[in-house]
Amino acid sequence: MLSFQGENILSVNQLDREAIELIFDVAKRMEPYAKKHKRTQVLEGAVLANLFFEPSTRTRVSFGTAFNLLGGLVRETTGMQSSALAKGESLYDTARVISAYADAVAMRHPDAGSVAEFATGSDVPVLNGGDGPNEHPTQALLDLLTIDRELNRFDRSVDGMHIALVGDLKYGRTVHSLSKLLCHYKNIKFSMVAPDGLQMPDYVLDAVSNAGHQIELVSQMEGNLAADIVYQTRIQEERFPSQEEANKYRGGFRISQAIYDAHCKPESVLMHPLPRDSRSDANELDNDLNSNDNLAIFRQVQNGVLIRMALFALTLGVENKVQQYETNV
Ligand code: CP
Repeated sequence: MLSFQGENILSVNQLDREAIELIFDVAKRMEPYAKKHKRTQVLEGAVLANLFFEPSTRTRVSFGTAFNLLGGLVRETTGMQSSALAKGESLYDTARVISAYADAVAMRHPDAGSVAEFATGSDVPVLNGGDGPNEHPTQALLDLLTIDRELNRFDRSVDGMHIALVGDLKYGRTVHSLSKLLCHYKNIKFSMVAPDGLQMPDYVLDAVSNAGHQIELVSQMEGNLAADIVYQTRIQEERFPSQEEANKYRGGFRISQAIYDAHCKPESVLMHPLPRDSRSDANELDNDLNSNDNLAIFRQVQNGVLIRMALFALTLGVENKVQQYETNV
């Protein structure tokens, strides 16, 4: 029987289709608690150390919310300067210390591989909330759950779908993790729609190709957005070698309602990991799409709480005790 108890969640490479389906099954069971139709204290007395050394709104708050909804407490560290890492403490030592205080750790850090390095010193489960340009496994899981749910509305499924990944595919860690997760599904057509210089890294393309999926690499949006899922991304300016280099791409790939009407299918689902860059010279996903029923960005956000609740329940081994610890609403 598959078990995540005591495990870290560092990379989507750890997950196969059975693991994904287990996580989705537990996430579904979390829905009444996330919607506050029911309450549970299954993690009463447990502490989450929520360590965010890079800016975050959704991941940080939803990890904390998920832990609170299961009855646990959250202790936050935000920014490198508020941690002893700024005094030269190693990730290993920090982990030894934090895991003496906490029952689980959620962590974001600007360096690829940093969360895995931290986990070597931790005695409690560590969940990767994004390590530089490398991976964002919980985002990939919530994206996949959203894709599954959105396609179900149109009697379609992940197997056999057409997905267009759009924008900064080089530095966007969410599209790396999502592409790798989709390798566990069948017969998917990928349109990698990115400006020259920001295409998907070869190691991701190789994984997708080895999984038997079809890949199209294209450098313009026009004519390449008629997919079941159109997943737009922000230009990850903070990861470019210079602002000058980032400015070359700013505002290059924008989706508005007019672009949607001209180039997407009527049932194309629009996704974005958020934040979208709403500055007028960037604006990759226009506000005029906000009333489009197929804009799934805020449903992604809701699914993120379910996924993170499921991962806490699974890694702390309480997934089958949630109901037993129900209290009155
Ligand atoms: N999607 C995502 O990771 O958002 P935050 O940077 O706000 O956490």
